[in-house]
Amino acid sequence: MKSLGNLGVSAARIEDDIAALAAITDPDRPYTRRAFTPRHAEGRDYLRRRFEAAGLATTIDASGNLIGRRPGASPGRGTIMLGSHSDTVPDGGRFDGIAGVIAALEVARALHDGGIALDHDLEVVDFLAEEVSIFGVSCVGSRGMAGVRPPEWLSRRQGDQTLEQGIAEAGGDPHQVARREDVAAFLELHIEQGTVLEAAGLDIGVVTAITGIARIEIVLEGRADHAGTTPMGRRRDALVAAARLVTAIEAEATRLAAGPRYFAATVGEFEMLPNAANVVPSHVRLLIDARSQDAGDLADFSAAIEAHADALAEATQVSIASRRISDAGAVPMDAGVVSALDDAVGAIGATGCRLASGAGHDAAFLARISRAGMVFVPCRDGRSHAPEEWAETDAIALGAAVLLKTVQTLDTQGKGQADGSHSG
Ligand code: HGY
Ligand code: MN
Ligand code: MN
Repeated sequence: MKSLGNLGVSAARIEDDIAALAAITDPDRPYTRRAFTPRHAEGRDYLRRRFEAAGLATTIDASGNLIGRRPGASPGRGTIMLGSHSDTVPDGGRFDGIAGVIAALEVARALHDGGIALDHDLEVVDFLAEEVSIFGVSCVGSRGMAGVRPPEWLSRRQGDQTLEQGIAEAGGDPHQVARREDVAAFLELHIEQGTVLEAAGLDIGVVTAITGIARIEIVLEGRADHAGTTPMGRRRDALVAAARLVTAIEAEATRLAAGPRYFAATVGEFEMLPNAANVVPSHVRLLIDARSQDAGDLADFSAAIEAHADALAEATQVSIASRRISDAGAVPMDAGVVSALDDAVGAIGATGCRLASGAGHDAAFLARISRAGMVFVPCRDGRSHAPEEWAETDAIALGAAVLLKTVQTLDTQGKGQADGSHSG
């Protein structure tokens, strides 16, 4: 790995912040800091203090995002924004999202330490609920900032709390549509959550596109019956129908993944009722997370699952209803930003390659209101969404150095031309 030398960033500061956040976890389930929980608020409070120590003015925007801001020298040139997310999945890792928020903060600190005043305003952001949250939806803050958070999401409920209340409790105003028009460029650093960089011994991945993600909820309603006295041929067993459907989901995704384009599908959420040893299961809810770079493949997959569901409903007398919960199409990164990131990798003497992202990221929504780009840094064995997730601090610092270089390039680009607005 390229030595950090005089790249202006501090691996030690990055390490301290990542360690401090890792300590803020549900103690029995490291590392768990889910959005809309007191634990997440505790982590937010730490970040707010660190943003302010870096000289950033902090606010929570209407969508519940934590923003640290430093005005630029030339008002009206718009905002260069960097960020990611500090919420985790349950039993998740210490780096997914967090590395990006801390790298963004480190860029702000390095600019300040280096006496570098940007023309653009600078913002460092911790987006609210990038992970699938307790309300079953993701990228809540970045969708809000892009003005595309579905209004009906506000009534989604977890126990006695709605998403509307959750956003308000995070400090946002759920009824204010807060689409930003002033973001000239957005950059996000993230661990790769894959093995391409580690296997190739490369320092940096410059992301070309972010996968499309569709989430499909399927509810199966059978009939609760006595497990001992109900003959096998007279059952409406929701779990048996669900089990056959899950194997069909895996088979169809494997079929598509064997084709020319990237495809993956996972049943990661699965609830069964009444979940009692001596009762025939009456109800199953499952959530499919399907990933594709191609809308056609996603349509093919959805149609195939519908056909399997219809045939299973007939065969098992279990009713099967599906509902598209969210559907974010594949998003290309801005070509100019990609090339500025490529140039920065070369300029600091790091090694890198271009690659697509199979994971979703806040950048996919920022790309709707801004020129957006991402860099990946290697993570051990590609593991993520698990406590074993690990990334070297020096690797994150090198990624931060690429962001620092790119921010300065983007700040001077188009000097003298209006670039605050973004069409698209
Ligand atoms: O699920 C994802 O792709 C991201 O890690 N939230
Ligand atoms: Mn994640
Ligand atoms: Mn993430």
